[in-house]
Amino acid sequence: MGRAFVYVILGGGVAAGYAALEFTRRGVSDGELCIISEEPVAPYERPALSKGFLLPEAPARLPSFHTCVGANDEKLTPKWYKDHGIELVLGTLVKSVDVRRKTLLSSTGETISYKFLIIATGARALKLEEFGVEGSDAENVCYLRDLADANRLATVIQSSSNGNAVVIGGGYIGMECAASLVINKINVTMVFPEAHCMARLFTPKIASLYEDYYRAKGVKFIKGTVLTSFEFDSNGKVTAVNLKDGNQLPADLVVVGIGIRPNTSLFEGQLTIEKGGIKVNSKMQSSDSSVYAIGDVATFPVKLFGEMRRLEHVDSARKSARHAVSAIMDPVKTGEFDYLPFFYSRVFAFSWQFYGDPTGDVVHFGDYEDGKSFGAYWVKKGHLVGSFLEGGTKEEYEIISKATQLKPAVTIDSEELEKEGLGFAQTV
Ligand code: FDA
Ligand code: NAD
Repeated sequence: MGRAFVYVILGGGVAAGYAALEFTRRGVSDGELCIISEEPVAPYERPALSKGFLLPEAPARLPSFHTCVGANDEKLTPKWYKDHGIELVLGTLVKSVDVRRKTLLSSTGETISYKFLIIATGARALKLEEFGVEGSDAENVCYLRDLADANRLATVIQSSSNGNAVVIGGGYIGMECAASLVINKINVTMVFPEAHCMARLFTPKIASLYEDYYRAKGVKFIKGTVLTSFEFDSNGKVTAVNLKDGNQLPADLVVVGIGIRPNTSLFEGQLTIEKGGIKVNSKMQSSDSSVYAIGDVATFPVKLFGEMRRLEHVDSARKSARHAVSAIMDPVKTGEFDYLPFFYSRVFAFSWQFYGDPTGDVVHFGDYEDGKSFGAYWVKKGHLVGSFLEGGTKEEYEIISKATQLKPAVTIDSEELEKEGLGFAQTV
């Protein structure tokens, strides 16, 4: 049993949705494109799962956040795929891929062949068991990667009102979920091994501003330690979290956000892997010329920094998807992918954006006292390489984005740069 397509997208997440839209814009015929995904729903904007989806009042639910609404573009409902002659194979895990034969084998036993394959398998959440802690299967231990996880978390939140939550991990999931739990009237304690939250990006000064706000909302921080085990009741439900520092925290709910691993296993030994992801060139093409990789799973050259990077953010998933489709359908006119890394988050009434690379010396600017609008620049080898801004306007975010893309020389000293603040980016 088998079917043949010209283009197959493996994975049905953010990158797949944006690739599908680009295919239709460039003209794909009925029956030429197939998307095959383990998830039972059409591609959606994953960032909604830790934000609007967890709200106590009028939470976001599908179909409202199918791709590509996150980029203010068309909303690709299941009907949209049908109307565009795109085969959407949902709820179907791909078990193996033979790159040499250009075939995929699905869990239903079907063989699907392709002329071009786009790998958009994203990543999976790291499990506590990988750190030697048992208990991930307990009904009140929640991860957050896909819609099934989000539904489960929303249900556990509902049954934990006024209860205690322990949030494991101080990264994006930890910070965004902690805020959502507070909004749901749950007492939150965050536990993470680093000295401050969002250690991959925030400076101690930036982190302390957000942490103070969380504390004012009742959140407790336990830093510099990790969990070692859980206590369970007779039904297998977690009742408490034991920490390495000897503390025990009562828990009605545990949220775990301890990082991800890209889903590359189908391709190990078949394609070149670098920095944990599938290595692609500036056209998002892998070591096999018929296979492309996009989104969280791809390690691509970031021209601006002259380095191979794997990014785990929605903007790079969207843009790498468009670029790969362009490279496949119009190889002559498609140039190099020239991407400026862009990250953002929204928690409580905060909203920040970051562009570039958070390396080098940091200069903070703006009003850290009132905490409404402040930022930071990262300067490396005399050039601006990264810009962070909280509470900016659309125009201000555009200004820091454009300035960072130009990687300008910084000829003033850090005191002057601090004083100039946003004005510096404006004059670049
Ligand atoms: P994505 O994970 O979206 O999709 C991968 C798809 O492949 C899934 O549907 C999966 O089931 C499928 N798949 C994998 N293996 C398969 C197989 N063998 N067979 C079939 N299907 C398979 N970023 C940001 O910039 N701002 C934000 O606010 C947020 N917020 C956020 C919240 C939450 C809760 C998460 C989990 C993530 C974010 N992100 C984010 C990160 C962002 O969502 C992420 O970078 C993109 O979803 C990556 O898109 P991909 O398409 O690469 O993977
Ligand atoms: P992360 O990499 O942002 O943070 C992982 C955190 O896990 C670290 O900060 C650390 O505090 C903690 N940690 C690591 N090992 C630990 C251990 N043994 N015990 C306790 N804590 C430990 O990853 P995440 O928060 O899990 O997010 C998952 C993915 O989702 C990432 O790719 C992230 O980029 C993405 N995401 C992005 C956004 C956004 O961009 N706004 C929002 C949500 C999720």
